[in-house]
Amino acid sequence: MNTIEQLKNSIAKAKHLVVLTGAGVSAESGVPTFRDALTGLWENFDAMALATPEAYLRDPALVWGWYEWRRKLILNVQPNPAHLAIATLAKRVPKLTLITQNVDDLHERAGSKNALRLHGSLFHPRCFDCENAYQFKQAPMLEKEQKITPPECAQCGGMVRPGVVWFGENLPEQTLQQAFAAAENCDVLLSVGTSGVVYPAAMLPEVAAQQDAQVFHINPQPSAMRFANEQQIIGKAGLVLPELVE
Ligand code: OAD
Repeated sequence: MNTIEQLKNSIAKAKHLVVLTGAGVSAESGVPTFRDALTGLWENFDAMALATPEAYLRDPALVWGWYEWRRKLILNVQPNPAHLAIATLAKRVPKLTLITQNVDDLHERAGSKNALRLHGSLFHPRCFDCENAYQFKQAPMLEKEQKITPPECAQCGGMVRPGVVWFGENLPEQTLQQAFAAAENCDVLLSVGTSGVVYPAAMLPEVAAQQDAQVFHINPQPSAMRFANEQQIIGKAGLVLPELVE
């Protein structure tokens, strides 16, 4: 039996399936990943100048403009067969918990509900000072290199910031707890399109494997594997995942 058949069998028996996604699941929609050679965002932009609270305070217009460029990019792409297959899987198993590191909204647009967003969302900005939620009033109309002054918070007049988790910041606590509880209690964890280098998200497959769940990685690149109950399927998410719901 090949690994895809084994994964299908495991899913057919699973009472609780966890799907953990990273940037690779959106790659085939045309969204750049972070660390892929040449095309990755962190290959082309300095994370320390764009994705920390200090960077935002140093140059809010640079940071806000960059995230508005990314929001525009997402608004112009569509969910791909990988997102759609995950939404279909949720209807076929007794319980599916979707945990994503992505800040796009492609899982939701594909029909997935209640995704646990570990790293926030490009679509839920808030005030840097009082954390009041900000509603976007217009579509982003800018180029990659454009600076744009962040809007003002209607409640306190503070600067609005992107609703994403930056380097040096804590992940949303309740979401993180729910993600770890799911990893501890699942029978199968499917890790799709993540380099597995950013913690604590990278611990989730390990936690599931330690609790005797079957862990499968789907990635065109080989994944680091440390447990006997961990396997990998080398391939693109948009090709492999639809096979699971055929
Ligand atoms: P990375 O860019 O680190 O990794 C993307 C992974 O997707 C790599 O392992 C690729 O091999 C794989 N990949 C590329 N194309 C694929 C495809 N078509 N199908 C499946 N896999 C594919 O992105 P993440 O692991 O998501 O954090 O990065 C984790 C976090 O680092 C992100 O959430 C972001 C970043 O800094 C925050 O924004 C807080």
